[in-house]
Amino acid sequence: MSEIAIPYDHPGCSTASAWASIPREPDLPEKSELIARIKRLLIEQDAVLVAHYYVHSDLQDLAEATGGIVSDSLDMANFGHQHKARTIVVAGVRFMGETAKILNPEKRVLMPDPGAECSLDLGCPSDEFSAFCDAHPDRVVVVYANTSAAVKARADWMVTSSIALPVVKHLHEQGRKILWAPDRHLGNYVQEQSGADMLLWQGSCVVHDEYKAKELIELKGKYPGCRVLVHPESPRAVIQLADVIGSTTQLINAARNSDADVFIVATDNGILHKMRTLCPDKLFLEAPTAGAGANCTSCSHCPWMAMNGLINLAQVLETGANEIHVDPAIIPRAVQPIKRMLDFAKAINLPTRGIGNA
Ligand code: 13P
Ligand code: SF4
Repeated sequence: MSEIAIPYDHPGCSTASAWASIPREPDLPEKSELIARIKRLLIEQDAVLVAHYYVHSDLQDLAEATGGIVSDSLDMANFGHQHKARTIVVAGVRFMGETAKILNPEKRVLMPDPGAECSLDLGCPSDEFSAFCDAHPDRVVVVYANTSAAVKARADWMVTSSIALPVVKHLHEQGRKILWAPDRHLGNYVQEQSGADMLLWQGSCVVHDEYKAKELIELKGKYPGCRVLVHPESPRAVIQLADVIGSTTQLINAARNSDADVFIVATDNGILHKMRTLCPDKLFLEAPTAGAGANCTSCSHCPWMAMNGLINLAQVLETGANEIHVDPAIIPRAVQPIKRMLDFAKAINLPTRGIGNA
């Protein structure tokens, strides 16, 4: 598997680079001016802002304030697909922009920074993945949304974390053997829950891979009665300590519906903005990432999600720069596994639609 260039520039981190691409924080008067300008440009450009929970809170709030959405990757795909706007602006990472384009080839898809990658996508090059599929023709190919358009074009199903388990259970009930890519932790979790025969690609998320079970047990001990919320991209030992395992939207719902007062959250800390807004009387703590075995200071934040800011968002709306293109030859094939997932979500009544947008 190819080596991944991770954009960390943290003391003690083994790799370096694109924290340098993180947009600077505008000061307050500039921020108000930018927000007003973006609101005006969204209307002028017939555009809708579709944001992920991991991006800066300013962008999350702006998406909701302007009739867009902040949500998990399943809802983001669905919402952009249903919305009538001619331009979809995706504040997230590249695979989310590409998914929007594949589903809406006639629309313009913009991103504040098209260099916003994902370690899972980078760790699953389409040529190596294709060879893996060729070697196992008896398996149905299920890929996570966090992949390139070319990898999706080689798949039978695309899934996100909110629907991976129901899809795999469904395939297992049909007696199908599965080839899964790229996240090994999510793959392991789904395999254990479903009992399916799954062959796993060995990718991982640079953020979730860092959560530490031993330190999590120690933190739990300090807050009796707390609940542990874990995204399934986390290592098995961390998942085993979870009270709730789910997609970002599912974790927010769990926090909202729980009678507990304290939560330890093992997913990117961008999600805490929505959790704290919805549950101002509850305490949300980041799951520990440091400690024995940590390979950097592990800030619990995705370096690529952090590339989205107000300044580059205003710029793309003004200039039309950073349009996402997907090879038109790939789209007819890549759209099939995505549509299969969306149809399945509808058939099983999986709730889609972000928390604050209901
Ligand atoms: P969700 O679909 O749960 O939002 O996850 C996307 C992601 O990239 C998690 O790291
Ligand atoms: Fe990819 Fe991990 Fe960032 Fe999610 S948090 S976009 S899986 S690198």
